[in-house]
Amino acid sequence: MSSESQTMSVTTWIGTSNTGYAPLAMEEVRRTIEGAAVRILAPAETFIIESPLDRVETLQKLQSQPPVFLRHIQPIDGTLLLSETNEADVLPWLAAEISRTEDQIRGKRISVHVRRAEGCSYPYSVFDTKTSLDGVLRDVGATIDQRSPETIISIYAVKDQLLYGIGTPDELMSDWPGGAIRFQREEEQISRAKFKLLEAERAFGLDYTQYREALDIGAAPGGWTSLLLERGVSVTAIDPGAMHPSLRNHPKLTYLKRNASEVKFKPNTFDLLVCDMSWSPMQMVKLVLDLHESLTYGATAIITIKLMHRKPLQTIRDVIAKLESVFIVHRAKQLFHNREEITLFMTKQY
Ligand SMILES: C[S@@+](CC[C@H](N)C(=O)[O-])C[C@H]1O[C@@H](n2cnc3c(N)ncnc32)[C@H](O)[C@@H]1O
Repeated sequence: MSSESQTMSVTTWIGTSNTGYAPLAMEEVRRTIEGAAVRILAPAETFIIESPLDRVETLQKLQSQPPVFLRHIQPIDGTLLLSETNEADVLPWLAAEISRTEDQIRGKRISVHVRRAEGCSYPYSVFDTKTSLDGVLRDVGATIDQRSPETIISIYAVKDQLLYGIGTPDELMSDWPGGAIRFQREEEQISRAKFKLLEAERAFGLDYTQYREALDIGAAPGGWTSLLLERGVSVTAIDPGAMHPSLRNHPKLTYLKRNASEVKFKPNTFDLLVCDMSWSPMQMVKLVLDLHESLTYGATAIITIKLMHRKPLQTIRDVIAKLESVFIVHRAKQLFHNREEITLFMTKQY
């Protein structure tokens, strides 16, 4: 172990956020884990967390108050200083770490995540690293399974360090390296925004095929609408802007070319509300609350909140406080595909 891990902390972790949001993620960690020290590792997106709590207690804290901006964590179970290591000894060190942690790996479905921070001195590619570890993993009786792993080996190369850690997808908060979930871009994809709604489905454990009637506010050009239609949901899309021509004659789509403040619907019409207006958060909240009677009790709502103000944490608190007059807010999370915004997952109160 290097001097890096010889601190007063009981456990040390790497935290990852969306680019530019590390300061907010660090602030969250400080508030959630009393006595935790945090410092930037790779500017803007990764940081070290020195927790005064052991592994289980640290994870319990983070799970009891799920963070908005902390996207991924990786325990640091081993550290190698590359500047003090011969190149020929680097991959054998990783193999030795795997053997040392064999108890957590034996007989399990394992995925290996390798991340290289820009400018790191780690000499191997992601592909070469994984290939070199395949045999070691097989020798300890693990099956390599990138799609549904029980346990993830996380390797992060940053500056002159190689950091090794093991955890389950739940513990690490994602089954994607650094929480950077990727979806295949389709040829006819209407907008990149579709990825946000796809990611929300996974992140919040939803299944859009279970819904009957959706209201999509701020729908144009139609990425979110197209996903819901693909899932078999009927959609009423509202936007003064134009929807993509490919959606025009869809039998399950009703398109109202209007401002959302001008529309009214019968009570209890929709069991799903989605809203991606990229607009002032408080104006968006007012629109959503004005339309709440058109939602069934227990209806699900997925909305994005634009973080346009100088105090994002305060904006989020204010927005949630207002929405809680009608909704139960289950989760606020900055998804990997969110840019200057976060996503809320709510259900309408009974
Ligand atoms: C980020 S885009 C939505 C992208 C869409 N979710 C997709 O997947 O293609 C924001 C949309 O909100 C619409 N919008 C903004 N204010 C609105 C309002 N008051 N009523 C209805 N739509 C609004 C804009 O016209 C714009 O098309």
